[in-house]
Amino acid sequence: MNNGEKFDPLAYLHTRLGNNMRSKERVLFPLRRLHEEFASLPGSLKILEYGTGPVIMNIISAAPHASEITLAEYNRGNRDVLHSWLEGTFHSFDWSPFFDHVVTDLEGKGAKEARAREALVRSVVKRVVSCDFTAPRIIQEGHEGPYDVVISPSCIDCCATLAQFRRNVENVSTFVKPGGTLMLYLSERNMHRESGTYYIGSTPHTLVNISASYVAEQLKNLGFSGVRSYSCPGDPEAMKKLQDEDMLGYMFLTGVKGT
Ligand SMILES: C[S@@+](CC[C@H](N)C(=O)[O-])C[C@H]1O[C@@H](n2cnc3c(N)ncnc32)[C@H](O)[C@@H]1O
Repeated sequence: MNNGEKFDPLAYLHTRLGNNMRSKERVLFPLRRLHEEFASLPGSLKILEYGTGPVIMNIISAAPHASEITLAEYNRGNRDVLHSWLEGTFHSFDWSPFFDHVVTDLEGKGAKEARAREALVRSVVKRVVSCDFTAPRIIQEGHEGPYDVVISPSCIDCCATLAQFRRNVENVSTFVKPGGTLMLYLSERNMHRESGTYYIGSTPHTLVNISASYVAEQLKNLGFSGVRSYSCPGDPEAMKKLQDEDMLGYMFLTGVKGT
């Protein structure tokens, strides 16, 4: 069984992202990075999020820059949660504080614009498709792109080996069009061994142990230019709860695919 099959959407949302955004770094760091990155991009972009989970927050900054967004997710329960939120029938987790944070705190707009952003996200997400980075075809057929922007938050590092991780980066990068942008949000980890485990409740999840310099090097080798990486130390209390010995914090990398 891999990390996707045993994924419990509601447990994940409430434990990792909930409690009024108490898991601060896990939420505030990627939201700030995505805000900064999209602020420098034009509009009308074709965007893919690879490994969305049951999570809406990673496309809040992307929506005003998108002509269309495709969400790709492995786990059927997560895809169901995404569909319900998009249809306005999902009430088990409240994303409005996340919209408020991005639209009012980061963009400096008002509460009315935050509610309008929820409607915009609902209208600009055109489809939810399936994906599996262990399969020969890693995304549902017909959705390979290319895309102007590919975001993959906290997904392609859910594997046990560096070889699988390298394949994941290489495969996901094929969805980016030449001159397009790849954005990766990953756990930054101690590379003293190949992988480690964290717990949500009593359920173990495997993560490959990678550092920002390791991933940046791979992006450069794949022909990405202007590669930038940002690191954020994890909150010691939150890491203690995850019982994760190898975790150092979070990292965000971006680069432009060679033309
Ligand atoms: C830690 S969650 C991240 C969810 C979300 N992107 C976020 O930012 O919180 C890991 C994601 O990886 C997905 N995943 C696990 N195994 C996968 C696989 N073989 N192929 C693609 N995605 C997979 C899970 O379904 C889940 O959505």
